[in-house]
Amino acid sequence: MAELAKNFEEVIQPGSREAELLAQIEPRRLPRHVAIIMDGNGRWARQRGLPRVEGHRAGIEAVRAAVEFSARLGIPALTLYAFSAENWKRPAEEVNTLWSLLRRYLRNELGTLQKYEIRFIPIGRVDDLPENVRNELRRAAWETVDNRRMTLSIALNYSGRLELVDAFNHILAEGASGPITEARIEDHLYTAGLPDLDLLIRTSGEMRLSNFLLWQVAYAEIYVEPKLWPDFRGDNLLEAVIAFQKRERRYGGILSPTNAR
Ligand code: FPP
Repeated sequence: MAELAKNFEEVIQPGSREAELLAQIEPRRLPRHVAIIMDGNGRWARQRGLPRVEGHRAGIEAVRAAVEFSARLGIPALTLYAFSAENWKRPAEEVNTLWSLLRRYLRNELGTLQKYEIRFIPIGRVDDLPENVRNELRRAAWETVDNRRMTLSIALNYSGRLELVDAFNHILAEGASGPITEARIEDHLYTAGLPDLDLLIRTSGEMRLSNFLLWQVAYAEIYVEPKLWPDFRGDNLLEAVIAFQKRERRYGGILSPTNAR
């Protein structure tokens, strides 16, 4: 536990509520892959009489907190759902603001990604995004390619069903022979090479998967946070990890003495 506290020295005051939460976390049983459905930006803005895009703007601070706390905890993979393939139905102004926020985030946070040794990868049908967004994504991915502490995946123009369609089409394009196996499908997902998804967090109290990581969610624990995404902070991530560590994971079997896979 002392080893975790050391990682948070710069950001958590001894005796604070966050320090108390941190002390409850078992560093050896951390989720290896956490994914977040960042929901509630629009409601956050509406509650304040602001345009929806202000909710997205405020959501960036929550993204920063989630990334920083995950890296300091030592979670190997964090995947954020930023734009679904269905989000194109939103007004053009909102969609364009999301792209400009993302571009600014990648530019401004590159230093942070390097500081925490975070590798960035975009996942989804990224080829269909505007060119200036693709350029920024490529640059951030390229500049962080050797980082090993954590992989930050941001899902953009993402759909869980289309991810499976893309995987099967890649397998066919390779001139597939022999049976389709789970391992073969996994090797062709956007998340290939990442650890299995352990914990899926959704904010704003909604209990839907919204077409996110449909294959990967098979054995994940789901944690619903009532707060709206712009209000999500590091302490909420710590609470989610604590809840995760209290769950009994059986993978369809019975509880083993170690409760491990
Ligand atoms: C869901 O809230 C949120 C989104 C569709 C966008 C998430 C984007 C960000 C947090 C900012 C940019 C992201 C990165 C990674 C830099 P909603 O608009 O559906 O909220 P509502 O359900 O209350 O309307």
